[in-house]
Amino acid sequence: MIESKMIVAINEQINAEFYSAYLYLSMASYFESKNLMGFANWMRVQAMEELTHARRFYAFLSSRSARIILTAIDAPPIEWTSPLHVFEEALEHEHKITASINSLMNLSMDLRDHAMTSFLQWFVTEQVEEESNVDAVIQSLKLVDNQAAGWFLLDKDLATRAFLPPVGLTI
Ligand code: FEO
Repeated sequence: MIESKMIVAINEQINAEFYSAYLYLSMASYFESKNLMGFANWMRVQAMEELTHARRFYAFLSSRSARIILTAIDAPPIEWTSPLHVFEEALEHEHKITASINSLMNLSMDLRDHAMTSFLQWFVTEQVEEESNVDAVIQSLKLVDNQAAGWFLLDKDLATRAFLPPVGLTI
């Protein structure tokens, strides 16, 4: 049995994860419009990962007989000034998601919901990776001084990122 406060908070997180997918798809489309298809690939893979995050929350709520309430997803931004600007905004977004996961963790501990705390631990670890992945691209963009010649080199690297569907989790 999950406390209603916790159910509301997880439903909000499901919305945040779907918004993350929207945001990264919007970023992918921006890169496609600049013919930076490797950057676009990286963002599309990221969007897929966000859908699996939403699905993990959905599946967990469902397994504990709680109702999933889907709500409207805000429109994401559509324009940025450069690839560095895109990734800096992505990192800022991931910091917000990390803060919301930490709040969920605090709530589950306050409510002594041990099953939820254990479930959320995966997301605590995942957020470290999420921030680190985005920051790695930021550091590469800074190394090439955020210049077009460097973008094309990085584009080839980012084209190799592939989506690995989590075992046992369907969307
Ligand atoms: Fe679902 Fe990028 O955090």
